[in-house]
Amino acid sequence: MIQLPETFHGGIKWQSPSNIALVKYWGKKGVQQPQNPSISMTLSTCRTETSVFYEKSDRLGVRFHLDGKSNNEFKEKIEKFIVSNPDAFPHFDQLDIHIESHNTFPHSAGIASSASSMSALTLCLLDIERMANGAAKVDMQHASSLARLASGSACRSLYPAFSLWGQTEYHNPSSDDYAVSLEDEINPAFKSFHDSILIVSDEKKSVSSSEGHALMKDHPYAETRYNTARQNTANLLQALRDGDLQTFVKITESEAMQLHALMMCSNPSFVLLKPNTLKIINAIREFRAETDIPVCFTLDAGPNVHVLYPDQDSEIVERFIMDELERYCLNGNWISDHVGSGPSKLI
Ligand code: PMV
Repeated sequence: MIQLPETFHGGIKWQSPSNIALVKYWGKKGVQQPQNPSISMTLSTCRTETSVFYEKSDRLGVRFHLDGKSNNEFKEKIEKFIVSNPDAFPHFDQLDIHIESHNTFPHSAGIASSASSMSALTLCLLDIERMANGAAKVDMQHASSLARLASGSACRSLYPAFSLWGQTEYHNPSSDDYAVSLEDEINPAFKSFHDSILIVSDEKKSVSSSEGHALMKDHPYAETRYNTARQNTANLLQALRDGDLQTFVKITESEAMQLHALMMCSNPSFVLLKPNTLKIINAIREFRAETDIPVCFTLDAGPNVHVLYPDQDSEIVERFIMDELERYCLNGNWISDHVGSGPSKLI
């Protein structure tokens, strides 16, 4: 192992976005691998900015602040992540690091920040490692496979536009170990898609996503679900290439409903939807039937609703959100987001 010079020190900063799954990852195998492939849209406004200040030391030292406040739970998670991946971070046992992380979306928005925060952190750590070993640049595929170990869905945040994670015969390349970019094959109809995130509740989830994944182990519908998701992946890939909005709407909504249906019939069963989630879903379906505008919804593991629609319909859909849906949002809160261009180095 190369000994770092005593003068090795500095500071770097990366930003990385959140992503919303269209075909959902729900159920794991092996070392944080997905039971089925998933497809996501990379966001823009919802992202994490992470700075890491580093200096030579005689052992690993980690300090972590989220929005200026120290956070022990995260610090321990990060230490574990570094120590359990010595091949990726061989120089970190000679480094003292101080991490400052900031999410551009409020904590109270009830939006999971693990994808954006863990991908931003992985990029910072790999960038420091790159400087220590003299490599030219951070490899996004390597970053994706490491981010996956920190938080599964984080591996899809490394690329612009849309990503695919999980082995599938319908796309080459594809892997259970890392996500790949779909940017180059997406029809222009989807490249400027909007995602308005309607905040229904900011309560902490009653069941974490790790617990939810674990409940898929003995789930009565597990095999049917994995096969359906594999087929949905194939069909959505085709729809994204063809600009087929109708198939996009059909698959995206079906995936959201299946995710929550799986939760409702697992053992023990749990429900993350709220009455206002259902009111919003029904209103979107009625609006689509009346206007023929290809607007649809998806859901993460929580009650908030992601409203997806093409740029050309944004004026009329946003008016509809303000007039008809805002009333179901917590304090009228919603976040206007859209397809993003992926992570970038800020300093
Ligand atoms: O990355 P995790 O372990 O938090 O799981 C994410 C699960 C969902 O958000 C519900 C779906 C997905 O594919 O992002």
